[in-house]
Amino acid sequence: MKEKLLEMRKAFYKALEEVLTPAELDELRIYYLGKSGALKEILKQMGGLRKEDRPVMGELANELRDSMGEAMASKLKEFERMLLEKKIEEEKIDITLPGEKISMGRVHPTTKTIRELIDVFVRMGFSLEDGPEVESVYNNFDALNSPKDHPSRGLSDTFYFDASRVLRTHTSPVQIRTMKKMQPPIRMISVGRCFRNDEIDATHSPMFYQMEGLVVDEGISMADLKGTLEEFVRQLFGEETRSLFRPHNFPFTEPSAEVDITCFKCHGEGCRFCSGTGYIEILGCGMVHPSVLEECGIDSEKYTGFAFGMGLDRITMMRYEIDDIRYLYENDKRFLDQFRR
Ligand code: PHE
Repeated sequence: MKEKLLEMRKAFYKALEEVLTPAELDELRIYYLGKSGALKEILKQMGGLRKEDRPVMGELANELRDSMGEAMASKLKEFERMLLEKKIEEEKIDITLPGEKISMGRVHPTTKTIRELIDVFVRMGFSLEDGPEVESVYNNFDALNSPKDHPSRGLSDTFYFDASRVLRTHTSPVQIRTMKKMQPPIRMISVGRCFRNDEIDATHSPMFYQMEGLVVDEGISMADLKGTLEEFVRQLFGEETRSLFRPHNFPFTEPSAEVDITCFKCHGEGCRFCSGTGYIEILGCGMVHPSVLEECGIDSEKYTGFAFGMGLDRITMMRYEIDDIRYLYENDKRFLDQFRR
């Protein structure tokens, strides 16, 4: 029996040498020291020994079990140390490598224009109102006095959801919403996206930005309209910029006008930016039509008002000398990175 035990020990140490993973080590433990392992198997023969030999064998078996257990424990420790070393090696950081460059986003030029415009008008005492992009046909056309056969109502110009809902074609419906919500004095602006069924080219986009303005109070006249817009033009484009009121026609204002300002590039001389005219159109405006006031429950005998609406894409393009509206919507970072101011 002694020989068997010693043989087993020899075989165990040889096998231990060859163990490569903790899992294999576990297998080894079960094989030699497990419930029906090699050691137990040998000890079964204890009964066949002489009585006086039994304690000696028992002691030897215990010793073997302990020393084999210790040998396996230290092997396991070795595995753990190796694992840790490997991990440290793998996770080593080379602090001499250049860092990853963080690429900063910038404020979109249209957003800059919007922020500055809001600033100018809020300083003049205007409040900021909001309206939805999906608008009722009533707010977008009917309440704005637009005749049923007006060309802008056509399917070729306007995106319809159904007979009563459209993607708003201008920010003017916010005038209606505001006047239905509050009584004069009203001084408000509203900024947002508008949609028209236009072919995309250098100056047209089916989605674009407008800013609306509305003032309603007692005694508001065309002089207030001109004064306000001229002040805004000076603040946004500079003192020397001149503006020109041209008669025009909108269903919801009477009289109506379009405003041109001297070209940012040639200052009125005429160049390719202004097609040689020296002026660039920036907005539509006029005195709020009495029918519109009445439709919104405002007494047109007592109150008068003016309104204006301008395309912000055009203004942004002028300010930053951008010659194609598509750049504003392509989200090309190389383009956007140029606007650091
Ligand atoms: N809504 C008009 C447009 O989109 C502009 C406008 C607004 C004109 C307010 C007069 C008054 O062209």
